[in-house]
Amino acid sequence: MSFRIQPAPPARPNRCQLFGPGTRTELFAKMAASAADVINLDLEDSVAPDDKAAARANVIVAARDIDWGEKVLSVRINGLDTPFWYRDVVDLVEQAGDRLDQIMIPKVGCAADLYAVDALVTAAEAASGRGRALGFEVIIESAAGIAHVEEIAAGSPRLKAMSLGAADFAASMGMSTTGIGGTQENYYMLREGEKYWADPWHWAQAAIVAACRTHGVLPVDGPFGDFSDPDGFRAQAWRSATLGMVGKWAIHPKQVALANEVFTPSDEAVAEAREILAAMEAAKARGEGATVYKGRLVDIASIKQAEVIVLQAEMIGS
Ligand code: COA
Ligand code: MG
Repeated sequence: MSFRIQPAPPARPNRCQLFGPGTRTELFAKMAASAADVINLDLEDSVAPDDKAAARANVIVAARDIDWGEKVLSVRINGLDTPFWYRDVVDLVEQAGDRLDQIMIPKVGCAADLYAVDALVTAAEAASGRGRALGFEVIIESAAGIAHVEEIAAGSPRLKAMSLGAADFAASMGMSTTGIGGTQENYYMLREGEKYWADPWHWAQAAIVAACRTHGVLPVDGPFGDFSDPDGFRAQAWRSATLGMVGKWAIHPKQVALANEVFTPSDEAVAEAREILAAMEAAKARGEGATVYKGRLVDIASIKQAEVIVLQAEMIGS
């Protein structure tokens, strides 16, 4: 470990973030009743320009009136390149009340984007007497966002989570695909005439995880567009979990259970992690730093790996 200790991310379950357009008020109560850990009411790309003001008013009422239970409540504001975002921020801070936990800032491209929103939120909070600090989450979904991902992760003490937004990311990068996440038909290797598909999102995901882990932010996988393909969703989510992401978006209620399934450590995984910790305790008592568990090496690094799983399970359980 560096002399600089890796900060812990927010200790909260963030397995599934369920989205709904700010215009579709009939969905809000269903979202509140869902099994998602985080609710994202959208003012951005699922809302047409003429409907922005109405959607903003809807989510303010919903933040105040609906019982969101233990869920993290987040509103996705419009991007900083639009004429809508400042009004989103000011109205949410002044009117949505303290139940609103965080805002999601889309298409961030540099740390100064967070600085600008932070300045506005800080002033509006002080003027309005909002009782608790509004958190931020961001979407990395542009070439600039991924190029500056580390400074963005360090960009504001308000920042809680960072998601990869596959569709806008692909467009900004000039990727030759219209798919939102998942396997891409033309991204394959050939060996002896057989195709082997690789993962075009891997680099961006790993970069996001590294930036987030460095700065104590939760790394999250964004949308999987084909909500009629549960196996495709699972495959994408398993890769994200394996790389260190803690959750994934749902853009349809069908995807909530899938995300919860993948990002909740299984009973077997937790039991094995506890056995590894016990094996290492016994090794330590014998004065050894390494031992054998089920025919494989476990050592002091294995303790930290096992603790990731046990801590995740305990946090979700509590
Ligand atoms: N949250 C909660 N419930 C939802 C929901 C959502 N996001 N989307 C649909 N439902 C409900 C429907 O109301 C319906 O409920 P019912 O069984 O009580 O009638 C049920 O789930 C099945 O819905 P379905 O008919 O399959 O979906 P739809 O055609 O109404 O809507 C989408 C499909 C994709 C347009 C809609 O899910 C949606 O708007 N998703 C979020 C989009 C978004 O926010 N994008 C921005 C982030 S990428
Ligand atoms: Mg987007």
